[in-house]
Amino acid sequence: MNHRRVRQSPVDGSAARLVYLYCLFCSYSSFGARTPMTPELQALSFAAGSVFTPGAPINEKDLFAGRREQIENIIDAVSQRGYHAILYGERGVGKTSLSNMLSAFLGRRQTSLISRINCDTSDTFSSLWTKAFKEIESSRRKHPIGLTTQPLAPVTALDDDNITPDGARRALQDLSRSTPLVVIFDEFDRVQHAGATVLMADTIKSLSDYSVPATILIIGVADSVEGLIKEHQSVERALIQIYMPRMSDDEIRDIIRNGLARLTMEIDEAACEELVRFSQGVPYIAHLLALHSCRSALAAGSKIISPHNVEQGMHRSLDQWQQSIKASYHEATKGRQTGHLYKEVLLACALAEVDDLRYFTAAAVREPLSLIADRKFEISNFARHLKDLSEAARGRILQRVGETHGTRYRISNPILRPYIVMRSIKDNIVPKATLEKIITP
Ligand SMILES: Nc1ncnc2c1ncn2[C@@H]1O[C@H](COP(=O)(O)OP(=O)(O)OP(=O)(O)O)[C@@H](O)[C@H]1O
Ligand SMILES: [Mg+2]
Repeated sequence: MNHRRVRQSPVDGSAARLVYLYCLFCSYSSFGARTPMTPELQALSFAAGSVFTPGAPINEKDLFAGRREQIENIIDAVSQRGYHAILYGERGVGKTSLSNMLSAFLGRRQTSLISRINCDTSDTFSSLWTKAFKEIESSRRKHPIGLTTQPLAPVTALDDDNITPDGARRALQDLSRSTPLVVIFDEFDRVQHAGATVLMADTIKSLSDYSVPATILIIGVADSVEGLIKEHQSVERALIQIYMPRMSDDEIRDIIRNGLARLTMEIDEAACEELVRFSQGVPYIAHLLALHSCRSALAAGSKIISPHNVEQGMHRSLDQWQQSIKASYHEATKGRQTGHLYKEVLLACALAEVDDLRYFTAAAVREPLSLIADRKFEISNFARHLKDLSEAARGRILQRVGETHGTRYRISNPILRPYIVMRSIKDNIVPKATLEKIITP
């Protein structure tokens, strides 16, 4: 059943030309394969790029894994008049993918018109709503639910430069007369305009007070709700707060299995566990590693991924990791002076035990560092390295909070952590077997 879908969807029609070019490419590269790949394996290798998509959020329900609790929470907000939701968490954990799935998960439970906009640093409260109303109008044109007799909304009556919370509420009230609305503001953390978030909180309050059948979903990178809307207390009763954690091992396994089922491929159990371990709960990494492991297996003429393919996939992934991540690793570990332990200390930081917000203490670095360097370390032996790694000269790869005794550190970007681990294996900073013993998901 899956077999047919794979072969048809990603490579049919106009994509055939791309497949042809890709096949030519495969015959010249493909992980150093000795024999040319068969057309079937070449097509699969091409299709893998639209199944495992490190660069793009998920758009298909079949490829979406886990996140049951978060989905139910958002559906709760949408289905109860007067409730709104805020979805927050680390970068790259799957916030946009989850919101893309909303209509699929709402299914027949409720017909809603869902519109999404991406916020950016130039946005004001008015520009956010101008974009949102344009998006709602275009969604209404594309999906004219219950619109047979209704003219399009009087959105244009709003003054684009001076939209107020009350104006936005009135417009939404008109627009939602025939169908409930869901308006998603993604990347809300990028809004910098003073006052925009206060006005958004006022709008949410007003929509709740007037019981308007429109749900606002705010999404952004933040450790806490205050990080996105400081004035959230004023709307606390109307706002369902949903934290998006990293994925569990089972959820990462599901990403791998769903994708491989689509590709009619399989994976050896040990290889799957390696992918899970190195993904460290970050779905972006699971996609990146799975994609290159698949291609390594196919290039070797097999539809079954082995641990060797994962190792090759890992090396290929390191090359294709976001450039900014590679640059910050280089910046943090540059130099060759004696007693220079930046690579080892950074790896120990990536393996240290963390709290819920992924902060660790210097004490938590001691044990992994002793294992990595194979000698006993005290905090005083590496404290200077931690300090340097949190300063501008080394690109502030660590964030530091708290003073003297309460100091805690955090790796500045969640995608750096798995990079540091895999890069250390490649550079032989530590044997893989030692690492596998200390990695905590
Ligand atoms: N539930 C999921 N199932 C399968 N893959 C997922 C899931 N969630 C996220 N992904 C994958 O993880 C990667 C990051 O997802 P996404 O862009 O949705 O994250 P995000 O939290 O919105 O990131 P950012 O903070 O950068 O906006 C993408 O490759 C996406 O395909
Ligand atoms: Mg996103």
